[in-house]
Amino acid sequence: MAPPLSRLLVILLLALLFSAGAGADRSTDGGHHQSQTTRHARIFSFGDSLTDTGNLLRILGKGTLISRPPYGETFFGRPSGRLSDGRIMIDFFAEALGVPEPTPYLAGKTAADFRRGVNFAVSGGTAVDAAFFEGRGLKMFVRVSLRNQTRWFKNVLQRLGSVRERRNMTATSLFIVGEIGINDYIISGLYRNRTLMSELKTVFLPQIIRAIRSTVTHVIAAGARTVVVPGVIPLGCEPQLLALFRGRIGAGGYDPASGCITSLNDLAELHNRELRRMLRGLRRRRAHPWSGTTTTSVVYADLYRAVTDLVVSPGRHGFGDRPLEVCCGGGGGAYNYNTASFCGAAGTKTCADPSAYVYWDGVHFTEAANRRIACSVLQRLSWVVTEAGRCKIGCACA
Ligand SMILES: *[C@@H]1O[C@H](CO)[C@@H](O)[C@H](O)[C@H]1NC(C)=O
Ligand SMILES: *[C@@H]1O[C@H](CO)[C@@H](O)[C@H](O)[C@H]1NC(C)=O
Ligand SMILES: *[C@@H]1O[C@H](CO)[C@@H](O)[C@H](O)[C@H]1NC(C)=O
Repeated sequence: MAPPLSRLLVILLLALLFSAGAGADRSTDGGHHQSQTTRHARIFSFGDSLTDTGNLLRILGKGTLISRPPYGETFFGRPSGRLSDGRIMIDFFAEALGVPEPTPYLAGKTAADFRRGVNFAVSGGTAVDAAFFEGRGLKMFVRVSLRNQTRWFKNVLQRLGSVRERRNMTATSLFIVGEIGINDYIISGLYRNRTLMSELKTVFLPQIIRAIRSTVTHVIAAGARTVVVPGVIPLGCEPQLLALFRGRIGAGGYDPASGCITSLNDLAELHNRELRRMLRGLRRRRAHPWSGTTTTSVVYADLYRAVTDLVVSPGRHGFGDRPLEVCCGGGGGAYNYNTASFCGAAGTKTCADPSAYVYWDGVHFTEAANRRIACSVLQRLSWVVTEAGRCKIGCACA
């Protein structure tokens, strides 16, 4: 039965009234438009080693570098599967939101474990499927792509109760899709001894963005209302890559302010521009036909800027004056990085005070840096986390 015309008109009028209020405070990065904080009950996250809180450890088991001290020495007091001396960004998010620590998917057993929120991220994971890389003769670190993680999410949803309960649960959760993509770039070319920059930009980058888009679309279809999508970090500042490219790049190839490799940072910036463009497209498609507003907020999180700030002005954030030097590992030199003496390997050393270092093991960040990065991201998510929440995790606050 068709609704009477008068009812349709009332609905239309209400829609217009709502949109007038909601559209008023729209930020360019898709920010959300509420002055009040939206409460979330749990976190669902996807990504790689910047987000993994124990999945890779469960895939590889004991006997790997990351299962040994000094991983976890600052917080947890044991290797927890996080690639840091302590907490990572997602831990600080959970604490600031006042929600449970999301269960690493591979550690979850009961529906109750999953109701607390789930972390699907796997260290070494890629955005794009293994078949794409293997078809090109490229070797993966671990065969887990965003498609695996999305499949896991579907499995979890089915265990969360009736369709109605599931929708309510997704609608009241914070979704974080990323960071993801760095391993794709590293696998596809950065480790090989040839310049593939143009191929990375034209062949791999669009595939990576498409894979991220697919997962974001998926969680929105499952009822997500708040989706935060972090971009990639400045690749050219990673001590591991700085050490790898050493002597192969002329002095002009480094950014004077940061000491990072310009061409790699250009790639990361291009990725982030394309990511934001994709997200704008998604928002347009989902926008209300009359008003341009949407009930789903899909926002970009700028990890690139957060990390660059630490590297360019370490002193201002409480770090020592050699921000590209690694705390745990060995090798000396400007970066103190050598793959043969990766953090956790026999005979490697750990700095006395990890909180004075930005980089923990050459690839990942110290807990101190993770806290600063979380604070920087949360500062722009004031409708997700209150000022009190940010104070609680040690961000500069009133
Ligand atoms: C991820 O998916 C691929 C392709 O379907 C599969 O081969 C691989 O085993 C999966 N990885 C895990 C850890 O389940
Ligand atoms: C929906 O979820 C919220 C937060 O988890 C919960 O407080 C509320 O009781 C749920 N409502 C229904 C109808 O399940
Ligand atoms: C790597 O590239 C450099 C510079 O192009 C070249 O001199 C060197 O021989 C290459 N090494 C290998 C193992 O291909």
